Amino acid sequence: MSLSVVILAAGQGTRMKSTTPKVLHKISGKSMLFHAIDAAKEVSDDITVVLYHQAERIQEEIEAAYSGIHFHLQDAKQYPGTGGAMKGVKTKNERTLILNGDMPLITKDSLLALTSGDADINMSVIKLDDPTGYGRVIIENEKVLEIVEQKDCNEAQLLTKTVNAGIYAVNTSLLEKYIPALDNNNAQAEYYLTDIVKMAVDENKTVNPIYVEEEEFKGVNSKLDLAHAEEIMQRRIKTAWMKAGVSMRLPETIYIDCRATFEGECFLENGVSIQGASFIKNAHIKTLSVIEDSTIENSDVGPMGRVRPNSVLIDTHIGNFVEVKKSTLTGVKAGHLAYIGDATIDEGSNIGAGVITCNYDGKNKYQTTIGKNVFVGSDTQLVAPLNIADDVMIAAGSTVTKDAQQGDLILSRTPQKSIKNFFYTFFGTKA
Ligand code: UD1
Ligand code: CA
Repeated sequence: MSLSVVILAAGQGTRMKSTTPKVLHKISGKSMLFHAIDAAKEVSDDITVVLYHQAERIQEEIEAAYSGIHFHLQDAKQYPGTGGAMKGVKTKNERTLILNGDMPLITKDSLLALTSGDADINMSVIKLDDPTGYGRVIIENEKVLEIVEQKDCNEAQLLTKTVNAGIYAVNTSLLEKYIPALDNNNAQAEYYLTDIVKMAVDENKTVNPIYVEEEEFKGVNSKLDLAHAEEIMQRRIKTAWMKAGVSMRLPETIYIDCRATFEGECFLENGVSIQGASFIKNAHIKTLSVIEDSTIENSDVGPMGRVRPNSVLIDTHIGNFVEVKKSTLTGVKAGHLAYIGDATIDEGSNIGAGVITCNYDGKNKYQTTIGKNVFVGSDTQLVAPLNIADDVMIAAGSTVTKDAQQGDLILSRTPQKSIKNFFYTFFGTKA
């Protein structure tokens, strides 16, 4: 690959009104910056992220998820602005693609379109009915002459509806020449990356406008933008999975994380939420169920079931109001109202209504292991750590604190008493 990528992510993101850096806000389960990095990785092997505001925190998050990403700390006090962000950045390939960290909807195809042809600079442009806020792009004979920031526009320039979408592919040698020569003689006293266009034109270089989809290039600046971008991303994710054969009832009510995957015949009912890197195969997830970072295979969950992270359900039925956490269930039925946490349950076992694994003593978490064909009666408390062998029956209402051996009936109830005529002694005889 002869393309380097620089992702600008040093801006503060004031309009987000958040203590979390703007680019770390998530869309479909993945931070905006990670969406940009993933798109960049598809086209380049030399990626630099420019940081300043909360640089350490952002760099840490990136380094925990990726290797081989380069970082550049902007000297934003002395050199503010997008041009300032590029000061001192070194890229190794012939061409450099400059992206923004707050454009999570960009696709590989658009990036490739921006790097096609042999112009000295390709820049992304959009035609907008309302160009407010964007830099205006002055085009003549299909070549870009100049980009003028809104605050620097004269009356005529303000009317221009062709705007700078903010992404450029530039010959690296030109960047190395023009970036050090930028000045800040403008309305914002910032170093504008956009000024390299005029510098190139003055030297008879070609600057091509590449018309792009507004949807992909919309920057996310506020929580409102974030919500809009989320809608677009969700539509894309669900469309792709439906094309791949996943059935969805009322898809607009369903949420699917960008890391989730499906296989075989899957049916998601309305209001389902599939979070994290869940894997769903031949499964039916019913209304209002939530699946988080789990594997569900040949199973059905819900309605209103909750499967929390690190669970594996195989050949299993989970009914309404059942919560499963960090547990592996193979061939199990848990039809109603149960909490199954830190447990392993084997084939043919039935978990009655109201069963609870007491997995936490206030300090530590403990495991519950249940073998094959175990019948756990309703309203049983399983106090972990606990081992229930195969073929065990546990009577309803039991509090089980000791391990059970194969074939046992476990019963821990106070014997039932009957006090004759107590009702009448208490209330008196009714008239
Ligand atoms: C910039 C363009 C404008 C274009 C718009 C598209 C300039 C001068 N103007 O506007 O023509 O229409 O993008 O969205 O480039 N950043 C830094 N360091 C900084 C400032 C910004 O890294 O000092 C990063 C931001 O984090 C962001 C990107 O650069 O990812 C764009 O910054 P933003 O302030 O949104 O763009 P504008 O300058 O308003
Ligand atoms: Ca700005």
